Amino acid sequence: MKPETIPVKTPTGSYPIHLGEGVLSEAGERLAKRGFGGVCAVVTNPTVAQHHAGPLLDSLRRSGFRPVLCPIPDGEAHKTLATVAGLYDRFLSAGLERKSVVLALGGGVVGDTAGFAAATYLRGVPFVQIPTTLLAMVDASVGGKTGVDLPQGKNLVGAFKQPEMVLIDPLLLRTLPAAEFRAGLAEVLKHGIIGHPALFHALRRGDFTLPWMIAEAVKVKVRVVEADPFEGGRRAVLNLGHTFGHAFERLANFRLRHGEGVAMGLVCA
Ligand SMILES: NC(=O)c1ccc[n+]([C@@H]2O[C@H](COP(=O)([O-])OP(=O)(O)OC[C@H]3O[C@@H](n4cnc5c(N)ncnc54)[C@H](O)[C@@H]3O)[C@@H](O)[C@H]2O)c1
Ligand SMILES: [Zn+2]
Repeated sequence: MKPETIPVKTPTGSYPIHLGEGVLSEAGERLAKRGFGGVCAVVTNPTVAQHHAGPLLDSLRRSGFRPVLCPIPDGEAHKTLATVAGLYDRFLSAGLERKSVVLALGGGVVGDTAGFAAATYLRGVPFVQIPTTLLAMVDASVGGKTGVDLPQGKNLVGAFKQPEMVLIDPLLLRTLPAAEFRAGLAEVLKHGIIGHPALFHALRRGDFTLPWMIAEAVKVKVRVVEADPFEGGRRAVLNLGHTFGHAFERLANFRLRHGEGVAMGLVCA
């Protein structure tokens, strides 16, 4: 099936979401067509890299890029300023310049951390999201919010950074643990409830058809962030289930996945 392209309008322009099986291996070609080249950084973690970094690096090299792998440790505990500082070091020693691309290959933790590094390194370099969890595909990779946690709380430091493009390859979900997939379904369900009755009813029937489910969930998020790019008001609907959800996450000392907290939060809301 041909990849589907979903355009996202932003205050400064627009970017495409390319969604389809195999788009990971088209990354180099798609970026070269948009005029990018040379050194680029691939930020990922060891868990994701062992499965999916190979095809991405191959694709970039085929199109003449010189990709530098920049691994960060796995887990929310590493979504920190210290990890970002480590990335700046790596970017500098690799010779990343103002026009060099930073690619995030991973779940929401990698996307948020790499995005914040890309937003701030040299006052901002081009950034590409390649989400590898269901949650990151339907939620975290779209909308331009990036950032890291402080000891005092989650997501307390950040920046709006619109990506150059988002590449969603549903084949990457084959290696995702079932519990992570279920956590992502909570955000899909939320998108169904706030803006897509047919999606909601499909989930109720137990119909999780890919890539349809991802495409429809993403479109809900796109509609909301286009209407409210800087979180002035309308975007609050995306927080459905999150007030209770965050309370559950905190009560469980963050041993609950975000999506698991949201799933319970949706029941309460
Ligand atoms: N920026 C936003 O708008 C936004 C929105 C929602 C959530 N978030 C953030 O996203 C984060 C949660 O993201 P998440 O749920 O993707 O968690 P995550 O990034 O921690 O990924 C979950 C686990 O799955 C592993 N993994 C990822 N892809 C895999 C694959 N294809 N195969 C095997 N393992 C894989 C990861 O290594 C990790 O261990 C939170 O920090 C949250 O604050 C951001
Ligand atoms: Zn959420």
